[in-house]
Order: sequence, then C-alpha cells, then structure tokens
Amino acid sequence: MVLLEKNVINVLDCFHANGTLWSEISKRNFDTKIQVTGIEKDKTKTSSPYFVLYGDNERMLPKMDLSQYHIIDCDAYGDSTKAIQCIVKNPTLQNKVAIILTV
Ligand SMILES: C[S@@+](CC[C@H](N)C(=O)[O-])C[C@H]1O[C@@H](n2cnc3c(N)ncnc32)[C@H](O)[C@@H]1O
Repeated sequence: MVLLEKNVINVLDCFHANGTLWSEISKRNFDTKIQVTGIEKDKTKTSSPYFVLYGDNERMLPKMDLSQYHIIDCDAYGDSTKAIQCIVKNPTLQNKVAIILTV
C-alpha cells in the first residue's frame, strides 16, 4: 500500500481490534510516520501498539474532532454503513480524506 505523499499520516481506525492491519502497513512504509488512533468496542482486545478509545464507534464518531485525520478506516469485515453515516455527517470532516471500507 502506497500512502499519501506526507511525512506524517494520521489514521482513525474505527474497527481497530488489535491494530494488526496498521501495524503491518507501518512496517512496510519506513519513510512515513503513521499515527493511529483506534476505536474498539471489545475491551478484551488490549494488545494494540496504538492509542485506543474503547467504546462503540457509532456513539463516538458524531462527537469527535475529525479534522486531524488523513485516513479514516472502516474495515469492519461487515456492515460499516452506520459508522460511515456518522463520519460524513460530522462537520469537522475535512476535504480529501481517504475513507477505507469493506463491503
Ligand atoms: C474485523 S475486526 C477489524 C480488524 C482490524 N482492521 C485489524 O487490522 O485487525 C472488527 C473489529 O471491530 C470491532 N467492532 C465492531 N463493531 C464496532 C463498533 N460499533 N464500534 C467499535 N468497534 C467495533 C469488533 O469488536 C472487532 O474487533
């Protein structure tokens, strides 16, 4: 995966689990500092190397400041429609943000 041409990328990972995907991507992008904030509802998933907010993304996303994020990841392995709706309705969402989803 070739990331945006930036030295620092801020990622909001809305279905974080233990952050396996972004850990792997970070290992392959030496020139880019990837800063990840995870959201995870399962409090038993505690082995992420990243900062994690524990709770339901549908409750958090409407209240969050999304302006700092370049990538918002909704890799749910399931239906992420409600999370996407929360993101696009949030007035702090910036232009040219990459939103990743599984369908
Ligand atoms: C398929 S895993 C994501 C895998 C992850 N992208 C990775 O790199 O390993 C989906 C995760 O989303 C979490 N999840 C599902 N619904 C959620 C919600 N509404 N809010 C927060 N986390 C949720 C589940 O607990 C699960 O850990």
